[in-house]
Amino acid sequence: MNYQTDIDDILSSLKTSLEGSSDIASIKLEYLGRKGKINSLMSKIKEVPEKERKSYGEKVNETKLKVEELITKAEESGNKKKIEEENNTWSDVSVVIRKEMGSLHPITQTKWLIEDIFQRMGFQVEYPFEIDSTDNNFTFVNMPPSHPARSSWDTFFTDAGDVPIVHTSSMQNRILKNNKPPIYAVVPGRCFRNESTDSRHEHTFTQFEGIVVDKGIRFTDMIGVLKTFFSEYFERDVEVMVTPDMFPFVEPGGMIQVRWEGQSEAIKKITKGTGWLEIMGCGMIHPNVLSMGNIDPDVYSGFAFGGGIERLLLIKYGIEDIRLFEKGDLKFLRQF
Ligand code: PHE
Repeated sequence: MNYQTDIDDILSSLKTSLEGSSDIASIKLEYLGRKGKINSLMSKIKEVPEKERKSYGEKVNETKLKVEELITKAEESGNKKKIEEENNTWSDVSVVIRKEMGSLHPITQTKWLIEDIFQRMGFQVEYPFEIDSTDNNFTFVNMPPSHPARSSWDTFFTDAGDVPIVHTSSMQNRILKNNKPPIYAVVPGRCFRNESTDSRHEHTFTQFEGIVVDKGIRFTDMIGVLKTFFSEYFERDVEVMVTPDMFPFVEPGGMIQVRWEGQSEAIKKITKGTGWLEIMGCGMIHPNVLSMGNIDPDVYSGFAFGGGIERLLLIKYGIEDIRLFEKGDLKFLRQF
């Protein structure tokens, strides 16, 4: 058997293939793969006469090394060519940026929209502390340590006894103390409650608080402000109604509701078929809260309101599950 010729043939046919094709991966397989040409040369060793086997083996190994070298060289020059080609292609950088930049989270978008609407009505924007004292969360909004309502807020506590804020009302006292009336402030921020989650409840959610204090502020001023806000937010003239409700920091307290005709399953779940959506708590600021904020309740009056930003989004877009906002599901987020 003239194995020398076989070996020479392999090298010259490899060179021809490498020159004629850019598909180096399949050439590599053809020569170096398990059933490739080199291995088949190896297996022919059985046919080689005993005394020539050693030199045959050495020869095949040598050839294998050569084949590997040639293929590696071809791979390297192929990669280089590819990079050069890519470098020579003109790219529209702005397109790449637009593709990679993503978009703002719907909560952020809505937070900014809320800020914008209230700023146009003359409100200043303040952000809450995410962890604050029990005093700011409870005591200064008229829930002294003995108050039974304290236990109804599903509160988390830090080891130091502070509170990841249960509501943005935690900022009421600070805003009252740090400003002189007239006060018009809106406070959007994240809140936390120690409750089990379901399609309507999240342990981490976003609220916004409104606080207005001036001479002669009345309940109807609050209704007017809220009606204006909802009409802007939902982009149509919205009908509102306030039903009585109880929050220790407002008197009288209420729940603001918005008329909703939509019939989607998500909306029906929220309206319970009444055609009215409860959106958020509101009311006239309790005289005790004004006093603790160094504002004389005999001279000034004011209102406050507060509610969940997620809820506004659920309603506007008919979203069924509040947990989608914290889930990091790109398919969901890309819709906004
Ligand atoms: N802080 C209340 C809540 O989290 C909402 C609220 C704010 C109610 C201001 C009345 C006035 O439910």
